[in-house]
Amino acid sequence: MDKKRVFLLVSGVIILFFLFYLIFQTRWSILFSPGELSNAHAEFDESGECRACHTRGSRLDNGKCLDCHDEIKDALQKEYGLHGRASSECSQCHSEHHGREYKLSYLDTETFDHATTGWALDGVHELLKCEACHSKDSYLLDMHECVLCHDDVHMGQLGPECHRCHDAKSFNTETYTHQTDKAPKGKHLQWSCDECHKMESGNYPLGKGVAVRYTGLDFTCNKCHEDVHDGEYGKDCAECHNQDTFKKE
Ligand code: HEC
Ligand code: HEC
Ligand code: HEC
Ligand code: HEC
Ligand code: HEC
Ligand code: HEC
Ligand code: HEC
Ligand code: HEC
Ligand code: HEC
Repeated sequence: MDKKRVFLLVSGVIILFFLFYLIFQTRWSILFSPGELSNAHAEFDESGECRACHTRGSRLDNGKCLDCHDEIKDALQKEYGLHGRASSECSQCHSEHHGREYKLSYLDTETFDHATTGWALDGVHELLKCEACHSKDSYLLDMHECVLCHDDVHMGQLGPECHRCHDAKSFNTETYTHQTDKAPKGKHLQWSCDECHKMESGNYPLGKGVAVRYTGLDFTCNKCHEDVHDGEYGKDCAECHNQDTFKKE
């Protein structure tokens, strides 16, 4: 035999072994599988990658599920939503090997108690369809602050935590009690809000725009009250006067 033939024979045998190895590997694992994986994970049946979910000895490893499902890992870390409160034993709710058409995650939207997500539906929210807040592909949301779905009409003046002042019944407040010491007290509060808080266009924390002005208001007393002491006592009238009466008893 010449060298060329020997070479072809040897490389043929090597390639054949290699092919056998590939086929054998894949099929081998399938032999031990309790059943086909669902559509979402079907590629792992095809590639024979049991270890995507199992460790050696076929134990299920929740950490491996989380390696692929970042959004769930995130929810667990932040203790957000349904997953943030549920067990990290994924197979409690997501079984596998029940065939391609098996639904990996099941949710009965009729009986689902939304409070189990840590965010109860109340007020107007309770009357809405699920689709008003969730896409049809996923129930996951990255946050639950009101600004996720409602425009900040205050242009950032009052911060991102809308729930400090609003609930889901209505955005209009019947009564409002000032929260800062800079705000007026006493007699001044007999006025209506819009005498001091006017719709203005200008620069706000969220940019240029039009909004009712709630911050950066000048409420220095001598802006409106004449200094009857002719500056003798200085500019800080509040040192001696409250906002109900200038008379001293
Ligand atoms: C996408 C993830 C995933 C992949 C990939 C996967 N499995 Fe599983 N497997 C599961 C889950 C989830 C269970 C638990 C089912 C239950 O308890 O309802 C399970 C259970 C099993 C069980 C039952 C024993 C046990 O530990 O509960 C065996 C055996 C098994 N898998 C073998 C395989 C084999 C073999 C492969 C590769 C062909 C494979 N699995 C690929 C997710 C997977
Ligand atoms: C190697 C990556 C990978 C691993 C490991 C993995 N998954 Fe998945 N999973 C996917 C992909 C890809 C999809 C389909 C696309 C999607 O919905 O993100 C999916 C989809 C899902 C879905 C949604 C299916 C649907 O129909 O809504 C669930 C639930 C799920 N996986 C649970 C698990 C659980 C539980 C484990 C661990 C036992 C696991 N996954 C392990 C990649 C993975
Ligand atoms: C208490 C039951 C329960 C447990 C435990 C649980 N899940 Fe889920 N999971 C659900 C339900 C119900 C859904 C469908 C509604 C939803 O998206 O929240 C879901 C949906 C999913 C989805 C699809 C998300 C999407 O975008 O639609 C993935 C991925 C997922 N779960 C992965 C996991 C992983 C990984 C674990 C383990 C760390 C886990 N789940 C533990 C009940 C559970
Ligand atoms: C007013 C808006 C709103 C409506 C309407 C609503 N949801 Fe939600 N839902 C949320 C918010 C916000 C969260 C996020 C909670 C969190 O991450 O802390 C959430 C979370 C969820 C989750 C948990 C997802 C996860 O895996 O963490 C499920 C499941 C869910 N909603 C199902 C439903 C169903 C079913 C309906 C209809 C019956 C519905 N929701 C109606 C706002 C809404
Ligand atoms: C996941 C989305 C989502 C989140 C988060 C959310 N809402 Fe809503 N909300 C809606 C939708 C959708 C409606 C109905 C359509 C509309 O009126 O904008 C609504 C309606 C309302 C209404 C009645 C309608 C109106 O304009 O007067 C109020 C009040 C309200 N939400 C307050 C809140 C408050 C307060 C928070 C935070 C604690 C909040 N919402 C968080 C989606 C959301
Ligand atoms: C410090 C308290 C406070 C915070 C925080 C706050 N608001 Fe308000 N909001 C008010 C007051 C006061 C009004 C005026 C109520 C009225 O006119 O009856 C109002 C009115 C509104 C209105 C109705 C405006 C209109 O023209 O009808 C909306 C919508 C609204 N707020 C959304 C938000 C959103 C979204 C957030 C979070 C980004 C937020 N608010 C944060 C106090 C607050
Ligand atoms: C006499 C003038 C005046 C009246 C009337 C008034 N405010 Fe104010 N308000 C102020 C001043 C001054 C501040 C502090 C502004 C600053 O921090 O620069 C303030 C602050 C606020 C803030 C933001 C900070 C906080 O303390 O909550 C809100 C919201 C607010 N007012 C709402 C209202 C509402 C609603 C009414 C009517 C019920 C009202 N105000 C009536 C002058 C007034
Ligand atoms: C934006 C203009 C304005 C500012 C700023 C202002 N006031 Fe007044 N204040 C008034 C007006 C107008 C009245 C009259 C209200 C009435 O009689 O109903 C009044 C009434 C009063 C009264 C009651 C007088 C009485 O006899 O009825 C006192 C006290 C008072 N202010 C103190 C203060 C003090 C202290 C400050 C500073 C912290 C202050 N005011 C800032 C406009 C202002
Ligand atoms: C060091 C304390 C002090 C300071 C600061 C002060 N006042 Fe007075 N103020 C008084 C006293 C004391 C009276 C007299 C009370 C009386 O007549 O019963 C008075 C009386 C008044 C009166 C009522 C006069 C009347 O007869 O009814 C007014 C108006 C007044 N002050 C405005 C101001 C203004 C505006 C400022 C700030 C620019 C100011 N005060 C700062 C101590 C002070």
